[in-house]
Amino acid sequence: MKLGVNIDHIAVLREARKINDPDPVEALGILRRAGADQITIHLREDRRHIHDEDAKRIISTSQLPVNLECSIEEEIIDIVCRLKPHRATLVPEKREEVTTEGGLDIVKYEDRILATVEKLHANEIEVSLFIDPDIEAVTKSNILGAEWIELHTGSYANIFAMLYCGLKNTPHSIKELELPRDVLKKRLEESLFFLKNAAEHAVSIGLKVAAGHGLNYQNVGAVAEIENIEELNIGQSIIARSVYTGLEKAILQMRELLG
Ligand code: PXP
Repeated sequence: MKLGVNIDHIAVLREARKINDPDPVEALGILRRAGADQITIHLREDRRHIHDEDAKRIISTSQLPVNLECSIEEEIIDIVCRLKPHRATLVPEKREEVTTEGGLDIVKYEDRILATVEKLHANEIEVSLFIDPDIEAVTKSNILGAEWIELHTGSYANIFAMLYCGLKNTPHSIKELELPRDVLKKRLEESLFFLKNAAEHAVSIGLKVAAGHGLNYQNVGAVAEIENIEELNIGQSIIARSVYTGLEKAILQMRELLG
């Protein structure tokens, strides 16, 4: 299992003071030493954490491949084409959201996604589509020409949090908090089944499969066991733990859980 570490939250801390410390570029060597396979960053339209200059410095200095998450907005895609990361992961983006809340609506935005995939390919950037674990979305991703899909694990992570971590780890938007435990357990199994099924279908039609969102030291095990998923992208939980253990140790501990 490959591990992409999302380092946006280092820039979140910097932006809390609008100064130049901590610099996310300093994380690159640590990620490499700790055995990460990829650097993941998200260049958001509102630039709330990673800025264009960060992305430029990270891509030009990283010895690991850089996976740049971005929306399909033309202005952003033009920047990505100039930056030339190893991979672009197309994600839905809403200004008011705290984090990416769901997969791409691949049917509604089919034409725009197709044009974006073609533009990225023309610039020799491989493409991943961040989608919900849904068979039709997987098939469509293949038709649209992506090399990768990244399966949104947020639903699995939310149900896991409701079941095993109590309210404090549960996003306030979740309405199912009142559900009995046996129903939640069934939903957890179901969410894992959707991930397994989507990953198996994707591999059978020639796509490479990543997964991510909301994965942490408690819930990552069952996702890491899914045979057809070859990469996980994890940010919040690793950066959160690093506050107490240091970044290298936090990554090593996650690596250990991935087997
Ligand atoms: N993968 C994608 C496509 C994302 O948008 C994010 C969040 O930026 C992640 C993975 C990492 O999610 P988390 O920070 O919850 O680990």
